[in-house]
Order: sequence, then structure tokens, then C-alpha cells
Amino acid sequence: RRAGDRDGAGGGGVIGKVGVIGAGLMGTGIAAQVANAGLPVVLLDIVPGAAARAVAAALKAEPAAFMHPRNAKRVEAGDLDADFGKLADCDWIIEAIIERPGAKRELYQRLEAVRKDGSIVSSNTSTIRLADLAADMPPRFAADFLITHFFNPPRYMRLLEIVAGPATRPQAVAAIRDFADRRLGKTVIDCADTPGFIANRIGALWISAATRHAIDLGLSVEEADAVAGKPFGVPKTGIFGLLDLVGIDIVPHVGDSLLASLPPDDPYRAVHRAEPLIARMIAEGRTGRKGKGGFYTLHRNGADRVK
Ligand code: NAI
Repeated sequence: RRAGDRDGAGGGGVIGKVGVIGAGLMGTGIAAQVANAGLPVVLLDIVPGAAARAVAAALKAEPAAFMHPRNAKRVEAGDLDADFGKLADCDWIIEAIIERPGAKRELYQRLEAVRKDGSIVSSNTSTIRLADLAADMPPRFAADFLITHFFNPPRYMRLLEIVAGPATRPQAVAAIRDFADRRLGKTVIDCADTPGFIANRIGALWISAATRHAIDLGLSVEEADAVAGKPFGVPKTGIFGLLDLVGIDIVPHVGDSLLASLPPDDPYRAVHRAEPLIARMIAEGRTGRKGKGGFYTLHRNGADRVK
């Protein structure tokens, strides 16, 4: 069974209706998972028509965000400005927009005007600290706000990182933890409010070390994954296959963000600087499956080793 593919009708206890803002890769995948779990979802995007297009695309056999037509009926796609009021009766509003603190904070200000008392707001940010997102927000918002960091693709990745702030209501955290565990099939971990939380902080080191060693030892992608992938519990894709799947441009994205927020004397700073190979692949558009191929098509570009 895939995480969250239970098709129970009706609400999820305290959480009966969910809003998702940002109908990109993550927001659409999260909305699909919530709908597959049997709840009504409002999915909004700032680009007119984008949310409707995302739902239409998810109905096709795209496994990462796939929604059964029966479940897609539960998703109400709309445009941010015209349909903002539809968030008013949502019990949990998940923000999955562009990774810019200013844009996220502006959206939270607007949310304060429409969301109902006791509703929970969470950010899917992968790198921004809660303290930065909640800065200058009113106490009402801070009490209902936490980070819920889903992983791509939400349907298959069971981990959910939760970060609560000093002002977050314990009941809000408990409600999300319970819902994610019981309705979405997630393994929930509580993280401190530190750059990269847990998984990306460790994952970045691990990807960087795997790439560096593969280059130094002259390994093929398959050989490197045979050592550093499956034995460490990576799904059958392996490390390099996972990078091809999520997009190789995520590597400097996470690395740069960590470098911007880690203290100057952090012992692992050097590891977060992207390999020249990665920068070259991105410059050439070889960002993985969404681009012109990635690590698993290196050989088609004349290289059978990672170099
Ligand atoms: P994306 O670029 O695929 O989608 C973002 C969507 O948000 C776009 O459709 C865009 O039109 C929309 N948008 C931008 N500003 C908006 C606004 N003010 N109001 C409403 N919609 C707006 O991005 P993706 O990858 O889905 O990432 C979303 C969030 O999830 C980011 O915070 C990112 O760091 C985080 N994240 C991404 C992961 C990944 O693997 N891509 C994994 C985990 C978290």
C-alpha cells in the first residue's frame, strides 16, 4: 500500500478539510495524497488556471502525483486571488509556494484575514527556519503555525518532518502528527528549527560524499549506487536514481541555502559546495528526468564513469 492511499470517506477527526496553496510539484502531490486519503481539498495557485491544469495532469498515469478520478472529485482547484475565500473553512492550510521567505510571509498575512479560528497553517519549506517565517507575525498566527516538510514524491515518501516554534500550540502539533500518521501513513519526526532540519542536512552530506567518492574511485553510476544506495535503505532508485527523479538542480539549491544559514565555523560547510560535475550537468540542462537526462544517462553522453 502506498502512503496515504486509504480511501475512507469522511473527515479525519479534527481535520476534515485541507487547503493547499501552490499547485507545483509538491503542492499537487500533497493535495493528491490528502484526496486519496478521503478528504476534501482546496488547491490554489497564483498563476490563473495552474491548479486546474495540475489536477488534470495528475489524473493521467503520472505515478508521483497520481489521483484516481474518484479522489480527484474531492479536489477543488482554484486561483489564489479569486478563490482565496475558499480557505475559510479549511482546518489545515498547507503552504507549498515558491521557496522565498518574503513571498511566504506575505501570504501568511493575507491568510490571517480569512482563516477560521483554530485552523492550522503549515509550511512545506525545505530550508527556511520557522523563526524566520514566523518573524513579525501576530501571536494568533504563531500559535497555529508549524512546518510540515513532505518529501518528493509525497505519495511514496513516508517521512514527514515537523518543526514547531516556541509559540506553536501543542494541540496543533498533536493534531497534525496524528493525522499524518493515521491518515497519510507517514512516519513523523520532530525536528529542531535548524537549517535543513534533519533529512536534508544529512542527505546533502550523503549525496555530496557519494558523488565525490564515485568520481575519485572512477565508479560507474550503477557501481556507486550498489555501494551507497540500497544497502543504506534507499528505495530501488539508489542515490543517483533518486537525484534523477527529484531533479539534480535541487543539490545546489539545498547546498546554497544551507551555506547561507549555517554558522561560519560549521565543520561541514565545504561539503555543501556543489561538485563542478553537478554544476556542469545543470548548465547543460541534464537535470534528470525532467531535463535532458541525468546520472543514469551519463553513458549516453560519452561517459560510463561518474566524472
Ligand atoms: P514548484 O515551483 O513546483 O511550485 C510552486 C508553485 O507555487 C508554482 O505553481 C507557483 O506558481 C506557485 N506560487 C508561487 N508563488 C505563489 C503565491 N504567492 N501564491 C500561490 N502560489 C504561488 O515548487 P515545489 O518544488 O513544489 O516547492 C514548493 C515548496 O515545497 C517550496 O517551499 C520547496 O522548498 C518545498 N519543497 C520542495 C521539494 C522538492 O523536492 N521540490 C521537497 C520538499 C519541499
